[in-house]
Amino acid sequence: MKDFAGKVAVITGGASGIGLGMAHRFAAEGMRIVLSDIEEDALEGAAQGLRESGTEVLTVKTDAGDAASMDNLGERTLEHFGAVHVVCNNAGVGIRGRLWELTTNDWEFVLRVNLWGVIHGVRVFAPHLVEQDEGHIVNTASMAGLVSVAGSGPYNVSKHGVVTLSETLHSELQDANSNVGVSVLCPGVVATNLRNSDRNRPASLRDLNTEELEERAQSTPGFSPAGGLPTLTTDWAAECVLEAIKIDRFYILTHEDHEGQIQRRMQNILEDGTPAVVRPTVFAGGPKELN
Ligand SMILES: NC(=O)c1ccc[n+]([C@@H]2O[C@H](COP(=O)([O-])OP(=O)(O)OC[C@H]3O[C@@H](n4cnc5c(N)ncnc54)[C@H](O)[C@@H]3O)[C@@H](O)[C@H]2O)c1
Repeated sequence: MKDFAGKVAVITGGASGIGLGMAHRFAAEGMRIVLSDIEEDALEGAAQGLRESGTEVLTVKTDAGDAASMDNLGERTLEHFGAVHVVCNNAGVGIRGRLWELTTNDWEFVLRVNLWGVIHGVRVFAPHLVEQDEGHIVNTASMAGLVSVAGSGPYNVSKHGVVTLSETLHSELQDANSNVGVSVLCPGVVATNLRNSDRNRPASLRDLNTEELEERAQSTPGFSPAGGLPTLTTDWAAECVLEAIKIDRFYILTHEDHEGQIQRRMQNILEDGTPAVVRPTVFAGGPKELN
């Protein structure tokens, strides 16, 4: 996609962090924005900030992990703007804990937002984009979708799922000679509120209180307290996304030096036969140069 002015972007998890960064970057290109999030107050505050700079914004409170809620997001978007061009399936949550310490609720909490959120987003929006033969889908995965970091089992599984879903979608669109683009965003550490994902955990999926969850997180290998790793900004992540949409790049790596980690995994698969131990510190790094 080259022309952005007047086009419509939908963003899940848009009230904070990378989602909000993308909203501001798209708004600067003159796009109209559908901002969706499960946190209503944060959503309205975020929308207000965008409107102050003259952007047309529709807010839709949405639980990305819920099929009916995502259907509603699709309906409200088309009712209000009549079209959709850029879809960012971005809502996400994280937890830390070793696989033998996790509960069914831990898995459910992460997979329903991080993986099912993307599944629903593609199911709801891709048919419209394919029909109009124009647009771009950006699915937020992570470096944790390309390597397997210790202490993040459900998160890794969800993000590897998002990478393969996106690759499959890309193949299918290519086979169909479609002009719709796809990208998968694979950042390392970005300064956001992800560390406080517990704020959006439904009571029905809660086994431990926030302090107990924090204790479990801190006991995982390579745990780094908030601010312990160098982070990139959400503005930077958003810039990488915009560039990828413009030049139709599929894999969006935001940090320098991450190629080496990916290469190492591939070498382990092809040559060594044994995976390396991956600690969260691999996700740190400075900004990757844009082409
Ligand atoms: N921050 C990082 O270092 C980093 C690195 C790699 C990938 N990511 C991914 O980036 C995406 C955005 O996360 P972030 O880092 O900006 O964190 P964030 O917490 O700042 O933003 C996530 C947003 O998702 C929303 N959300 C949570 N559950 C939801 C649900 N069920 N339905 C709809 N919205 C929901 C939150 O309210 C929040 O506004 C996530 O998919 C995350 O996994 C983040």
